[in-house]
Amino acid sequence: MIEWHELEEATKIGLENLQLFQLARFQLDDRIICITRLEEGLFGIQNTCPHAGAQLHHGHCNRRGIITCPLHGYKFDIKTGLSADGNNYKIINYQFKIENEKLFIGWRK
Ligand code: FES
Repeated sequence: MIEWHELEEATKIGLENLQLFQLARFQLDDRIICITRLEEGLFGIQNTCPHAGAQLHHGHCNRRGIITCPLHGYKFDIKTGLSADGNNYKIINYQFKIENEKLFIGWRK
């Protein structure tokens, strides 16, 4: 089950300006999230790499939404939170939706 949270209008406007495949750090309460915009929309994953703690928003995102960690190069799929290189990590991933012109972020409970 996904738990959805409405984001403020200013946050919505800021995220609308995010360039395709650009990575950004976003904080929601105590959650630090690495966000990007793919052609399908916004996606996010936890910003702390589970390998050794690097900040994933300093890494790279390719056209398929594969995030490469800046420290040792491990790869994560921002759409699922799964490792994209066989390292068997599963990290928190975040989804976004727009309803009635309001932006919501969601994650699995
Ligand atoms: S800290 Fe991310 S791959 Fe090592």
